[in-house]
Amino acid sequence: MAQFTYSTASPAEVSVDVLVLPIFEGPEPGPGIRDIKAVDLLGIFAAAKLKGKKGESLLVPNTGDAYAARSVLLVGMGKRAKATADTVRRAIGRVAPQLVKQATVATTVAQAAGKPEDAVQAAVEGVLLGSYRFDRYKSGKKEDAVPEVPALEAFTVLGPSRWDAKKAKAAMARAEVVADAVAWARDLVNTPALDCTPDFLAKEAQKMAREVGLECRIWGMPELEKGGFGGIIGVGSGSANPPRLIELAYTGAGKAQPYALTGKGISFDSGGLSIKDANQMETMKDDMGGAASIMATMKAIARLKPKINVIAAIPSAENMPSGTAIRPGDVLRHRGGKTSEVLNTDAEGRLVLADALAYLAEQRPKTIVDAATLTGSCVVALGPELYGVFSNDRTVARDVLAAGRTVGEPGWELPLWENYRQDIDSAVADIQNVGKRWGGAITAAWFLAEFVDGTPWVHLDIAGPAFTDKAGDLGPKGGTGIPVRALVQYLLTRATAGKRS
Ligand code: BES
Ligand code: ZN
Ligand code: MN
Repeated sequence: MAQFTYSTASPAEVSVDVLVLPIFEGPEPGPGIRDIKAVDLLGIFAAAKLKGKKGESLLVPNTGDAYAARSVLLVGMGKRAKATADTVRRAIGRVAPQLVKQATVATTVAQAAGKPEDAVQAAVEGVLLGSYRFDRYKSGKKEDAVPEVPALEAFTVLGPSRWDAKKAKAAMARAEVVADAVAWARDLVNTPALDCTPDFLAKEAQKMAREVGLECRIWGMPELEKGGFGGIIGVGSGSANPPRLIELAYTGAGKAQPYALTGKGISFDSGGLSIKDANQMETMKDDMGGAASIMATMKAIARLKPKINVIAAIPSAENMPSGTAIRPGDVLRHRGGKTSEVLNTDAEGRLVLADALAYLAEQRPKTIVDAATLTGSCVVALGPELYGVFSNDRTVARDVLAAGRTVGEPGWELPLWENYRQDIDSAVADIQNVGKRWGGAITAAWFLAEFVDGTPWVHLDIAGPAFTDKAGDLGPKGGTGIPVRALVQYLLTRATAGKRS
C-alpha cells in the first residue's frame, strides 16, 4: 500500500510522476495551475476543447524544465460555486485507476473546495475507493485491470502553509482507515452467497475483531433458541446454512451509555416460499449489505478510537424455500416476546432485525441506527443513490442526515406516517410482516419501530445504494459500502459533540 503524505511544497517543485491539478468549469484555473508559470496549462486545456466539466481530464507530459513533475493531469471539477469536499473525492476517484499505475502522485485538489480537513480526507478516500477492484473470482487478468499490487508508492496531498498540518495528517490517516473499512464491506457484499453464508460473516467478524481489538460474541442456533430469537431462527429455517447473531463491542469511554448499531444480514434472499422471480433474485447476494456496513463501521471505529462506546448486534440468515422453511401464515415469537404473523416470507429483513433491535433496546443505548436493504419500495421512491431515513427522534435523524451529507453519502428522510401503522395490525398476532403495496418502505419501518422500545432510533433503508449496477466515480459495479462513511462520521461527531457539552 502506498504511503500517504501531506506537504506544503509548491506544486512546481514536487518531482512526481503525475501532478494532479484541478480546473473549474469555464475553464477557470483551480489551485496550483498558476504556480506552473512557464507553461500555459489552462490554454492547453482550453485548446483541447475542454471546459472543466466533471469527468473531463487531460494528461500533459512535461517536455521542458518549467516544473519538476514528469506530467500534469488536469481534471475537471464542474462549477466552482458548487464544489464541495465530495467534488474533490469524486474528481480523484474518477482518475484513480490511472493514478495507481504510477509510482508517485501529488495533488493540489484538496485546496479546491470544502473545509481543509474534509477535503484532505476526501482526496485520499478518492484514490483508494476509486481504484477498488473485486477480482478474487477471476482466474485470468484483464488487460485494463488495475494491477493487483498497485504501482503507486507515494501519494502526496499538497496544502497551503496556512493549513494546520497536524490536522491534515490526521485527516489522511482517517481516510485510510475509512477506505479500508469501505473496501472490506464491498468485498463482503461482492462475495457470492455460496461462500458468504451467515457463518462466514460471523467468522469474518471474529477475525476482524481479533485484528483490531473488539469484543466479539457469535450466537449459534442453541444460543439463539435459548435467547428467544424467533425471527432470526424462523427466517433461517429454510436453509442448510444455519443463522447467526454477530455481537461486537467497542469500549472507548468506560461505562458510558453506548451507541448501538445493527444491519440486515440476509446472506441470500430467494424470497423463501414467497419466492422471487429470476430477475429480482439476481442481485440478492447483496441482501447482507447492511450487516457488512455495520461490521465495517465497527472495524473503522476500533481503529480510530473515539471516546465513546459502541455496540452492534447483527442478525444473519439465509432466506430459502424448503420443507423446513416458514410458511405464509406462520407466527414467530421475537426476542422480548412480541409475535409477528408472516404473511409474506419475502419480507424477511424486518423479521431478523426485530430480534436484534429488541436485544439492543434492552441495553438502553443512547441511540440505535440500523442499515438494511429492506424494501424495493424505497428504491422506487429514492432511486439508486439515496437511502431512506426513518426516525422516531428529530435530533438523531438530523445528526445522521448531516453526517451523510458531510461525507458525500447522503440519505433522504421519509415519514413514519401515523395512519399507515394500522396496515400492519394482525388478526392473529401482535403485528403482521406486510402492509399494503403502497408505502411499503414506511410500513416496513413501522414494523421495526415496534421493537425499539422508545429508544431514539434511525432506520436507513439502503436497498437502492448498497449495490450499483454500473461503475461510478468511486468504484466499479457491485457493492458500494454505503453507508459506512456516513456511520463512521456520525459516531466520530458524537464523540466530539460530547466533548463540547
Ligand atoms: N431484500 C429485499 C428488498 C430489496 C429489493 C433489496 C430490491 C434490494 C433491491 C426485501 O427482503 C424484500 O424482498 N422486500 C419486499 C417486501 C415485500 C414482500 C413487502 C419488497 O420490497 O418487494
Ligand atoms: Zn431481503
Ligand atoms: Mn425479501
